[in-house]
Amino acid sequence: MSYNLLKGKRGIVFGALDDKSIAWKIAEKAYEEGAIITLSNTATAIRFGQIDELAKKCNAEIITADATNTDDLQHVFERSMEVLGGKIDFVLHSIGMSLNVRKKRVYNDVNYNYFDKTLDISAISFHKMLQVAFKLDAINEWGSVVALSYIAAQRSLYGYNDMADAKALLESIARSFGYIYGREKNVRVNTISQSPTLTTAGSGVKGVGSLLDFTERMSPLGNADAKECADYAVTLFSDLTRKVTMQNLFHDGGFSNMGMSYSAMSVYDKNLDSSLDL
Ligand SMILES: NC(=O)c1ccc[n+]([C@@H]2O[C@H](COP(=O)([O-])OP(=O)(O)OC[C@H]3O[C@@H](n4cnc5c(N)ncnc54)[C@H](O)[C@@H]3O)[C@@H](O)[C@H]2O)c1
Repeated sequence: MSYNLLKGKRGIVFGALDDKSIAWKIAEKAYEEGAIITLSNTATAIRFGQIDELAKKCNAEIITADATNTDDLQHVFERSMEVLGGKIDFVLHSIGMSLNVRKKRVYNDVNYNYFDKTLDISAISFHKMLQVAFKLDAINEWGSVVALSYIAAQRSLYGYNDMADAKALLESIARSFGYIYGREKNVRVNTISQSPTLTTAGSGVKGVGSLLDFTERMSPLGNADAKECADYAVTLFSDLTRKVTMQNLFHDGGFSNMGMSYSAMSVYDKNLDSSLDL
């Protein structure tokens, strides 16, 4: 069902790789809600992913960019304003990658070149995006910029590795830039802290199957899936949330405020003896 929440709005969606991507679902939903959009991803992701299919579905141009490269980002904003016919109303940053995770380097034995890349791709790219947009004055007043985060920014979660530090930095950038962008241009900047979700990036998290089961049991409303995240994201792009900024907004079925649930306790009880040595 469409509410026309984004009718007449222009958006840029970064990070749709395949139909499991959170950005994919958000692009579909934004289009369904009346927005016109462009899509951006790296050359490799465009070659190996399925973004062409999404572009067709949403009548969107794909603009190649490495989000760590400010010239590429400038091109994305300039080209988007050209093809969409004016300044941008919303931007989605749905980008994350850790070579330490990919190469199975644990947190107490990280490769520091990889660590730098994790921070650059997964967090500093958000600052770059905001700075490029700010300098170009590419975002309309009351526009909305959203990045995707994860609760590992606040709590230690087994196996999340250096992505936890990237998410902490990402959320801090939303606050620091959100202050300036709000003060100077009335643009809001927020992060959505999403439940674990089975996507290409999500599948890289160590023990993701057990993690999904745990968070499902711990969340009174259950895990939020990518489609539900899209529903939430479009409200943040819409005019209905104009005074929400500099926030990290949990979209996790209640997980972030739980300590122990009946459902998790019952599994824990059953396995207590066999798990004592871990
Ligand atoms: N899946 C989960 O469990 C989960 C939970 C909370 C938050 N998130 C976050 O959601 C966001 C989207 O991830 P996803 O789960 O949809 O996985 P995904 O793998 O579908 O998306 C990650 C995207 O990042 C892009 N990317 C990587 N390096 C890039 C670069 N240098 N420049 C531009 N783009 C680049 C990839 O091409 C890909 O499209 C990430 O920030 C992720 O950390 C995911």
